[in-house]
Amino acid sequence: MKPELQWGGRFAAEPDAALLAFGSSLEDDLVLAAFDVRGSRAHAAALHAAGIIDASVAQRLDEALASVADEIAAGTFAAQARASAAEDVHGAIDARVRELAGDAGDWLHAGRSRNDQVATALALYVRDRAARGADVARGVARAALARAREALEAQTILAATTHWQPAQPVLLALWLGAVGEMFARVATRFARLAADAAQASPLGAAACCGTGLPLDRALSARLLGFREPTRNALDTVGDRDLGLDLLHASARALASASRVSEELVLWCTPAFGYARLDDAASTGSSIMPQKRNPDPFELVRGAAAAANGAFAGALASTTGLALSYHRDLQETKALVLRGSERALAALSAFASAFDYVRFDAARMSARAGDGYTVATDLADALTLGGIDTRRAHALVGARVLGAEREGRSLDASDLAALGEAAGFAGPLDAPLDAAASVRAKRTAGSTNPDAVRNALDALEASLA
Ligand code: ARG
Repeated sequence: MKPELQWGGRFAAEPDAALLAFGSSLEDDLVLAAFDVRGSRAHAAALHAAGIIDASVAQRLDEALASVADEIAAGTFAAQARASAAEDVHGAIDARVRELAGDAGDWLHAGRSRNDQVATALALYVRDRAARGADVARGVARAALARAREALEAQTILAATTHWQPAQPVLLALWLGAVGEMFARVATRFARLAADAAQASPLGAAACCGTGLPLDRALSARLLGFREPTRNALDTVGDRDLGLDLLHASARALASASRVSEELVLWCTPAFGYARLDDAASTGSSIMPQKRNPDPFELVRGAAAAANGAFAGALASTTGLALSYHRDLQETKALVLRGSERALAALSAFASAFDYVRFDAARMSARAGDGYTVATDLADALTLGGIDTRRAHALVGARVLGAEREGRSLDASDLAALGEAAGFAGPLDAPLDAAASVRAKRTAGSTNPDAVRNALDALEASLA
């Protein structure tokens, strides 16, 4: 189909088809369609309020735009837009409005440029997706919190690791609370961004310097849920900060999700056996009949890397650009939209997969003492008895070495020997089992059951 270009008026020659196709952003910006329609309705209202269009034109425009919104919601708009051969979603909507509203449609673009139109649609998109990201992240935090309460009730214990080496026994509730804390931060980041994207309306900045039409920018801003118009038209049309912030927040969200994913992938191996991913969320192998693969968590890990790359690419696409609009920003927008859509899909997938994780409390607890995880408690007990920490560390280290050689755990003989070495009246009073070690912790934020309960209560309050 011969493209009907919004800007073709001055041109004597037919555009080169291949270059026109190269310049199309339609596939990338179709996701902005509903947001463009909202911006266009507010713009039509501002045109009417300014006396540029009369009530009947305003009404025909609004009805046509409402129909386009219905077509977008019904999923029929995309095919039409592709068939229209428009250069981008904004041109496709303009073309559809002119089909539906007849000559009234020719008034819609008065006092507007695609430059402020793109910036407006993008701000509305960011507000929507950031709010959605906040919801999903809050959902993960709440799910982690609920599971932490159950695990606290059951007093399930596992060996916490650092460097993946056994460290000290902790309540599973501490681990789950950590997941809750991470995702509460993710939710906060997204929520702040949603608020930022409700601050200033780009609409009315036009190409780069405003318009000679007496448009009330405060009116269109209000209609779109912004607090005020942007202050500087030149800045507005070249600004992609909100888009970059969304991609950044999404990449950060997945960076957190990827770390939890990595741990769960390992926990789900039979060698670890701490968890099992329900069959509803796992995949099998086409050759190995026994396999149960934790694909969602692996995909989240991969998507986190891809989002990080998309952010780096999007930011790079803006560097060195002079002020105002440059077509490079179409690439920025494509990276932001594609990257954010994929990242938010991955975040939702993570949220679902997390609910399919089944913990094996017996297996965790049975291994919580492996690797001499109570050694630090013995050293703490020596320090509490007045032995300096270097000496305490050395004394307990020597007992660990001996026990390792003998192939046994730390036991009463070690407590007796340590008490004697320290010059105490009797054996060292220190926990030998994981449950006692957990109870021995004293500090706020620790794995002590009371401290964990306090932390979970505070997390719950912060999520409310
Ligand atoms: N498709 C373009 C974009 O997304 C629309 C803006 C074009 N503006 C222009 N002045 N040619 O960036």
